[in-house]
Amino acid sequence: MNYPYAGVTKENHFYGNTDPVQLVKKYGSPLYVYNENILREKCRDMKNLVEYPFFSVNYSVKANSNLELLKIVRDEGLYVDTMSPGEIFVQLKAGFRPEQIFYIGNNVSAEEVSYAINQGVKVSVDSISQLDTFGKINPGGSVAIRFNPGVGVGHNQKVVTGGKKTKFGVDPVYISEIKDILHKYNLRLIGINQHLGSHFMDDTEYLKGVQSLLVIAENFDDLEFIDVGGGFGIPYRKHDNEKALDLKALGSKLDDVFNNWVKKYGKKVTFIVEPGRYITAECGVLLGTVHAIKYNYGAKYVGTDLGFNVLARPVMYDSHHDVEIYREGHKCSTQKETVIIVGNICESGDIIANNRELPEIFEGDILGILDAGAYGYSMSSNYNNRLRPAEVLIRQDGSHVLIRRREILEDLISGFNIK
Ligand code: LLP
Repeated sequence: MNYPYAGVTKENHFYGNTDPVQLVKKYGSPLYVYNENILREKCRDMKNLVEYPFFSVNYSVKANSNLELLKIVRDEGLYVDTMSPGEIFVQLKAGFRPEQIFYIGNNVSAEEVSYAINQGVKVSVDSISQLDTFGKINPGGSVAIRFNPGVGVGHNQKVVTGGKKTKFGVDPVYISEIKDILHKYNLRLIGINQHLGSHFMDDTEYLKGVQSLLVIAENFDDLEFIDVGGGFGIPYRKHDNEKALDLKALGSKLDDVFNNWVKKYGKKVTFIVEPGRYITAECGVLLGTVHAIKYNYGAKYVGTDLGFNVLARPVMYDSHHDVEIYREGHKCSTQKETVIIVGNICESGDIIANNRELPEIFEGDILGILDAGAYGYSMSSNYNNRLRPAEVLIRQDGSHVLIRRREILEDLISGFNIK
């Protein structure tokens, strides 16, 4: 096995007792590979974010809801947030108890809200009309409200969820209307929450958002919890030595904010964070195979099985993922080249890495797309009737195990009523 370009996974022993070429031989390509040690480490980073004693981490499973990964996250003592009945269903299967699940609905039907209530999970609503729906279904019940504090963060406009130009949360100008509805249905407001957006590497705006939410919180005197959201970024440009988010510094700032606020509030309140990406992004690498090399009008295209059906982030948000190159045998890359790495989907936007300078890549090479554990498999699709890949876990002892099988052709027609 030859690693023409593989700093990160070599350093952290990502593949345990095996190597990516062997994994692809055994499980096929493309393939999602996860490392249990890294997943556990990330869970612990978040659990230790603050010293404030009433603190809980809700993993946002939309980032990756593989059942086996969820069991590990649960074993590390995290709880979960959820956006849909499907996620609730999977979380219960992974062994989370209903009270450890927080459902944050956005424009959902009364049936969905009823499903969550009947399962016994805590519910947050994010508009006055959804609060009214909740009140009709569950008068006398306990509810949380998602606010939009007017501040947003995020790596791309599509993932900024707080601030003045997004559909999320309740504008605090409506606090008195909210109080009226709470009163009308005899509801108890047990918590408030926010999520400002996804992937911040500088905590300035995030902290502003937290402060703004706490000002909103002062309007309610019976809160059990305040959920300040997720969004914690990870360094996607490791090859350029991008630094990780300084969690220690952020944690100590949050500690000050939480402690001071609680003193004023005069009552014990649990603070919650909801990281998705931070927990699972770096524990996942997507492996794919180079099937064709070609030059079109001067550009070198590296043709792979890594279409946007498998990893949508580069096409959807122009996201950057570092690429490693693995090769069997002793062939060397003698030069660096600028290449366009593309997939096998019939759209010209199907580009996984554009104009990337890398050591020479050959047909048959295996590519590793780093930091693909969050919003990778969970956003994959059957577009072009392609099959979703398998998922493999590198256990703590370095052994590997299949944790989700590759789809088969029959899966494509399983929803049809065919004789
Ligand atoms: N809480 C709520 C209510 C959310 O909507 C999200 C993410 C999170 C927590 C977790 O955010 P995180 O810690 O992962 O940033 N597909 C995009 C990211 C979309 C995030 C959507 N909401 C991407 O691949 O970058």
